[in-house]
Amino acid sequence: MDLTQMNILIVEDDEAHASAIKRTLSKAGVISGVRIVSSLQEFHAQVAQTPPDVAIMDLNLPDGRAVEALTSPAVDGPFPILLMTSYGNEQVAVEAIKGGALDYVVKSPEAFSSIATTLERAMREWRLLQDKKHVEKQLQESQAQVVQQEKMAAIGLLAAGVAHEINNPIGFITSNLNTLVKYTDKLIQLIEFQDRIIEKCSDEDDRSALADMKQQIRIEYLVSDLRELLAESLDGSRRVSKIVQDLQTFSRADTSEALPSDLKETIMRTINMVRNEIKYVAELELRLEDLPPVVCQPQQIGQVIMNLLMNAAHSIEGKGLITLAASQIGDSVEIRITDNGHGISAENIEKIFQPFFTTKEAGRGTGLGLAISRDIVRKHGGELLVESSTSSGTTFTVRLPVDLANAPTLSKET
Ligand SMILES: Nc1ncnc2c1ncn2[C@@H]1O[C@H](COP(=O)(O)OP(=O)(O)OP(=O)(O)O)[C@@H](O)[C@H]1O
Ligand SMILES: [Mg+2]
Repeated sequence: MDLTQMNILIVEDDEAHASAIKRTLSKAGVISGVRIVSSLQEFHAQVAQTPPDVAIMDLNLPDGRAVEALTSPAVDGPFPILLMTSYGNEQVAVEAIKGGALDYVVKSPEAFSSIATTLERAMREWRLLQDKKHVEKQLQESQAQVVQQEKMAAIGLLAAGVAHEINNPIGFITSNLNTLVKYTDKLIQLIEFQDRIIEKCSDEDDRSALADMKQQIRIEYLVSDLRELLAESLDGSRRVSKIVQDLQTFSRADTSEALPSDLKETIMRTINMVRNEIKYVAELELRLEDLPPVVCQPQQIGQVIMNLLMNAAHSIEGKGLITLAASQIGDSVEIRITDNGHGISAENIEKIFQPFFTTKEAGRGTGLGLAISRDIVRKHGGELLVESSTSSGTTFTVRLPVDLANAPTLSKET
């Protein structure tokens, strides 16, 4: 980086030292980009206004130690800090480097006159460090993708196998139940018809024997319960068929193309898959407005909704409420999933999208759900946002453009 173009913030309460540094810097060609302040408070004010490219800070300032600036969230990451310490204070400076400072110099006339070279070297190191962090992050992300792809492929295969096995028997169970309902109706009609004839043709003794028999077997209850039992069984078998269909769709997830899709259907299909996981911990409230067709890979969006619903369910202790709302906002569609669970702490909220970050016990969470979900949403040209408080719960918002025009990655891939 060209030093002359840099924006440098000097934080030093000793005016002589500050101007010595400034002089060296202007000799090196840095003229307009130098700001000098003399306290931590002013430092924070300056950073809030315009973050510098680098800060040179005296270790001891009138209102605190420069080390405190290192832990401030505003300073974490965007620019490096070079510390200055007086002779004898090196140990503190070394500690500061462990805490995140880039480097330190021991104050002396020579150190001031070579500050430009020191800065250049420090900035080169900073650059390398940033590049390394970037590469590490990319590596972590692609590793997460590979793991997830393998996980999904394995689940997909399993789901497809199970679905295939269940498909046939559930098909004939449903069809037989339908026929049974019809036959039962006919048999009941026949019995009623016979009853009327017996009533007319038989003698008193037979009629009373028949009445006794009917009472004994509780014929009225039996007929109404028989109908109910059949209706329930039919409903159950239809639900199983639905789950089988969902599993089949799910296992085809990766091969599908981005097409104009009915997101309400995707939402309902996903809910059917996770209903059982949710129903013991939360009420699920749906607020679905009319949505335009959204160009997307519906199975992938289903996967995102599933991850968010599962997370919401896991956040609830006892019995809670999960709300799923969907509406169109301008050129986008928004799906909001809100829970009144334990929320996410300020410290963790920075990390939840990182692959492998989880607060769940081993075996319960891999920490991939949100990383993958954000990846999918971004590929669709959208955003996955979070708001959370440990007192009221969490809302995740999936915002998708209605048209894929803004999602070059996805349209190229499919
Ligand atoms: N709705 C939520 N309420 C509270 N905390 C949440 C919520 N959603 C996510 N989190 C936090 O974010 C972390 C990461 O979530 P993520 O879905 O990525 O992984 P996970 O659920 O732990 O594991 P899995 O890979 O099985 O999804 C969770 O461990 C949890 O601490
Ligand atoms: Mg999860």
